[in-house]
Amino acid sequence: MATTDPVPQLTDRPEWKALQAHHAEIQDRHLRALFAEDPGRGERMNLSAAGLYLDYSKNRLTDETIGLLVQLAEACGVTDGRDAMFAGERINITENRAVLHTALRAPKGASVMLDGKNVVDDVHEVLDRMKAFAASVRDGSWTGHTGKRITTVINIGIGGSDLGPSMVWDALSPFGDHVVECRYVSNVDSVDFVEKTRGLDPAQTLFVIASKTFTTLETLANAHTARDWITNALGDEATPKHFVAVSTNADEVAKFGIDTKNMFGFWDWVGGRYSVDSAVGLSTMVGIGPDHFDELLAGFREMDDHFREAPLAENMPALLGLIGVWYSNFFGAETVAILPYAQYLDRLSAYFQQLDMESDGKSVRRDGTPITDYSTGPIVWGQPGTNGQHAYYQLIHQGTRLIPADFIGFAYSNAPLGDHPDLLMSNFFAQPEALAFGKTAEQVAAEGVPAEQVPHRTFNGNHPTNSILAERLTPRTLGNIIALYEHKIFTQGWIWDINSFDQWGVELGKVLAKRIIPELEATEAPHLAHDSSTSTLIRKYREMLGRPV
Ligand code: F6P
Repeated sequence: MATTDPVPQLTDRPEWKALQAHHAEIQDRHLRALFAEDPGRGERMNLSAAGLYLDYSKNRLTDETIGLLVQLAEACGVTDGRDAMFAGERINITENRAVLHTALRAPKGASVMLDGKNVVDDVHEVLDRMKAFAASVRDGSWTGHTGKRITTVINIGIGGSDLGPSMVWDALSPFGDHVVECRYVSNVDSVDFVEKTRGLDPAQTLFVIASKTFTTLETLANAHTARDWITNALGDEATPKHFVAVSTNADEVAKFGIDTKNMFGFWDWVGGRYSVDSAVGLSTMVGIGPDHFDELLAGFREMDDHFREAPLAENMPALLGLIGVWYSNFFGAETVAILPYAQYLDRLSAYFQQLDMESDGKSVRRDGTPITDYSTGPIVWGQPGTNGQHAYYQLIHQGTRLIPADFIGFAYSNAPLGDHPDLLMSNFFAQPEALAFGKTAEQVAAEGVPAEQVPHRTFNGNHPTNSILAERLTPRTLGNIIALYEHKIFTQGWIWDINSFDQWGVELGKVLAKRIIPELEATEAPHLAHDSSTSTLIRKYREMLGRPV
């Protein structure tokens, strides 16, 4: 019988060991030295793909590092994994599902077969219905129950059914000419619903209930509250004109009372956090208009094509993923900061938080064995520059931790006023420069700073950054950026040998919360059998509310 060699564990691979040896050589080299030895690296270590320009020269690496990282990616089969994903193989092994968010932006007429069916046809059938619906709300032919036109769309969803559409709406709202405004309710904290509906006329408000499963507690609680808000004002018959649903679960949608002809479907092969370009984007499509939504999809597609075709060393998402592996696994970095220099991208870091941390926050390999000798997904955080500069940049510049950061900026502003755009962008260029090169003690002393203050005013530098620059924030460039990070995260997950497409880690808390609800609501003192901390906290809560304990 033929025997096959066992697949080596990641850290046993010769390519991994080569990187460890290389890291030992390079770890103390300062970016100042790397630029001094190789002054042209800024002109060489960059890439253009779709509408994006990436400068990765301010990273603690050399051409040799890139070569070694690419060898690791090849050994781990990143390109085979990528092709399997695009081809619809069931790479989400724990849920036995294909991972086909890329099919959501495939052009009409393309073919992606799953179980003998071309899923692209289904995608466009839904897209066409979404476009007709969005156009009818925008042009006023879809009216509310009383015949008034709809002026506000409120999306009710959470996680992937909220973060994507709300981020895209925030980013692109000017493209919709404010014909219809969008708002997003996600938190089961009633404050969210109360504040988002404040001042609105129910007769002119339409709700999109977005939930892949249509069983999510927060979303259903908010959906019921929304239905009461509408029917209390307009009567029970008003529901059909004020509610549509986005889901994979037609039965639950019907049970809620939404006519399934007003339901926009998607499929189990679309992960929640990868669903913004599915029907989950419906509210955004209404807000920005179908043509701009098409442009967004085209932007995704451009980056998909690049990811599929470019060799790994010139492949923007793959390279970002490999650079991330370099810092996480060899330098021991725990986090990555996403720093958009664009107020319209206020929600981008929150969106990437779910995309990355829900995907790659795993601690078992694909075969179920525990990962004990390397770290996986990083902690993702950030907020738009320049606000962060006056908050947490202190720690990035002078703290003890290594925090790789991605800067994202645009040449043209979408709301230019005077010299604001250049003021903003001067910071986009200055911060990575300051982070990389710092300011030596000698430089500080030469400025006449008293000796005892010199250490406090010295900037060690050597903090790595990527700079991503695009001409303008448009639907297309936003599509480029989202797909860039989707594929970056894929690359990392594949190297770490994890399943980036399930999220079992969110389940336990949900189950426990369901168990606790009756304990909070009970009119008699409930029997609490939790650990002593949780039981005491629940008692304290009941006490504060004057409920028997
Ligand atoms: O709890 C996590 C999660 O399952 C996410 O993966 C998902 O995006 C979110 O909840 C919302 O789920 P649904 O769209 O099914 O309401």
